[in-house]
Amino acid sequence: MKDRLNNIEQETLVKIDQAEDFQALEKIRVEVLGKKGALTEILKGMGKLSKEERPIIGQVANEVREKITEKLNEKNENLKWERLRKQIIEESLDVTASKNLVNIGHRHPLNQTMEQLENLFRHMGFSVIDGPEIESVENNFDKLNSPKNHPSRDLSDTFYIDKETLLRTHTSPVQVRTMLSQKPPIRMVSAGRTFRFDDVDDTHSPMFYQIEGLVVDENVSMANLIDTINVFIKNLFGEEFETRFRPHYFPFTEPSMEVDVSCFDCKGEGCSTCNHTGWSMELLGCGMVHPNVLEMCGIDSEKYTGFAFGMGVDRITMVKYGIPNIRLLYDNDKRFLKQF
Ligand code: DAH
Repeated sequence: MKDRLNNIEQETLVKIDQAEDFQALEKIRVEVLGKKGALTEILKGMGKLSKEERPIIGQVANEVREKITEKLNEKNENLKWERLRKQIIEESLDVTASKNLVNIGHRHPLNQTMEQLENLFRHMGFSVIDGPEIESVENNFDKLNSPKNHPSRDLSDTFYIDKETLLRTHTSPVQVRTMLSQKPPIRMVSAGRTFRFDDVDDTHSPMFYQIEGLVVDENVSMANLIDTINVFIKNLFGEEFETRFRPHYFPFTEPSMEVDVSCFDCKGEGCSTCNHTGWSMELLGCGMVHPNVLEMCGIDSEKYTGFAFGMGVDRITMVKYGIPNIRLLYDNDKRFLKQF
């Protein structure tokens, strides 16, 4: 009897070792420890043994059952780990595989110019402010001292949403918003989209970008305005660039000026690009804030003065990179845009 028990133990342990899956393992368990299993049969037959033999064989049989059970559990664990290992290998993602990655672009040249300008003015102590593209007629025209009969108010020049609202024709209404909500000293710039009923040609688009600047404080003078513009032009284009201030008219500034910059091709020598004048096309408008504008925005024009400026971001970008046609900036042709 003892020998049979030892044989069962040896055979079963070898079989368990060789079992390849959970099914095989379960089959072994049933064959040995199940209701009709080999070991169970022996235990059932114990009654027939003599009184002396019974405890001895009983002890051996129990030891054999314990060993087999332990081995079964151990194998079961091993199979579980093996299954997990295989699963990990099968389901893992090979991140080293070289695929055609998504083509990641970069900032649009217009955004680059705007960011460069904003950063420059931030360094000069200006805050950067955002304004809405849908604006009131009041902020866009009235509070900017724009005469009621001014042609830019016409339906043929401006996109109206209703009688009181429109797509802003310039970024200047952000000046109004700032003065209405802040007390001097004010130093701000604001860049964004503007809209006019323009037909598209090489230099015109019904939607284009502007950047606006406003400074209001005590004792702000024209000298401050000219110095600020000079610092920013030289910073943007290079020290060698000169500026020229020409008298002009804007309703919201008095006096008003337009600013020319040395020709980008000849740097002022005179060439065919600049019609031998040495100056490139007008780049920005500026002036001292009209007292009427200050007053309409609740600022005491006896105590405070201010200057303002506004310019086309598209124009600056085109001049800076020598882009001949504004449409190129809006066509979204990656072959063009990736050059910048
Ligand atoms: N708003 C003007 C335009 O769209 C540009 C401009 C001129 C802005 C003079 C100003 C300024 O702030 O002082 O043509």
